[in-house]
Amino acid sequence: KKGKYSHYMEKEIYEQPRSIKNTLKHYLQKNNTIYFPELKKNNIFYHAEHIQIVACGTSYNAAMVSRYWFEALANTPCDVEIASEFSSRKLAVKRKSFLITLSQSGETADTLSALRHSKKLGYLGNLTICNMEGSSLVKESDFCILTHAGIEIGVASTKSFTAQLTVLLMLVSKIANFKKNYLVSKNIIQVLNTLPDKIEEILKKNELIKTIANKLSNKKNILFLGRGEQYPIAIEGALKLKEISYIHAEAYPAGELKHGPLALIDKNMTVIIVAPNNALLEKIKNNIKEICSREGIIYVFSDQDFDYEENINIIKLPYIEELIAPICYIIPLQLLAYYIALSKGKDIDQPRHLAKSVTVE
Ligand code: F6R
Repeated sequence: KKGKYSHYMEKEIYEQPRSIKNTLKHYLQKNNTIYFPELKKNNIFYHAEHIQIVACGTSYNAAMVSRYWFEALANTPCDVEIASEFSSRKLAVKRKSFLITLSQSGETADTLSALRHSKKLGYLGNLTICNMEGSSLVKESDFCILTHAGIEIGVASTKSFTAQLTVLLMLVSKIANFKKNYLVSKNIIQVLNTLPDKIEEILKKNELIKTIANKLSNKKNILFLGRGEQYPIAIEGALKLKEISYIHAEAYPAGELKHGPLALIDKNMTVIIVAPNNALLEKIKNNIKEICSREGIIYVFSDQDFDYEENINIIKLPYIEELIAPICYIIPLQLLAYYIALSKGKDIDQPRHLAKSVTVE
């Protein structure tokens, strides 16, 4: 039931503090340790020297974020590939590599066929991170972690994305713990505990985002930029926008701007930037200057102040711990896509040409 909401997507966006709490509740124990029933102590998974993730769409974007975490926090090399590409090329499998599939529905044909394909290739084993109990991916995988986001009805995926990221971050904590990096492991758990409240706080920016959405609803093109683990967040923000508002949106790593997309910038181009306060902020500020001097219209989501320039709009977010920043920064982009589509009067829960679960390759 939608209750007080106009669309399932809206309900699912606002539900995220609760759905994440639920995900955490399933795996976080009273003594603040993480327990995945199917990945017991010393499971073969923890002995992997490389992680290969395959997924599609929003699930792929979640995997892309986790790649930064696996490598930076758990010192585990990780690659991510679009499922349809993974199963259609000749692969050279890395030593002691473990395969993870990521999927909301567990029925995505491309991901399923990537899993089947991988079984012929000598991976140590496979794990699916999935929202649907009893789905094909769950049945056909060696191990499974359910995301417990609850049923997602809106075609554009929202709460299952943040649930996937929550599980992935817990998985990174488990690996760090296995590798005796107890500090990192504990820190992740501590910060994850603050996540539902942080998201609640960010959702309170909805009125401001609504006014911005009204200004952007007649745009033909919007560019999204991010750096580091915020780059996949920019991709996911652009995907949400194009799916439900049919506005052409593209995401770039901010560092790529001068290698091509800068040519697109003029006074008609809107650029949305996710720029939390981290080591990359100074570089992002340079990108902002490059766009300003070409008269692009900028909207920056940040917990930082920027020197005022005429064509930059700052959407100030509360202070957010770096570890959970990607999970938090997608929230305003989901809201933005939703309110833009709403002001355009689009069929938000059933975007044209799309299906919730893509069961053909
Ligand atoms: C985007 C969206 C799709 C799915 C993709 C994979 O909002 O919903 O891009 O993410 O089709 O679906 P799952 O996660 O069910 O494998």
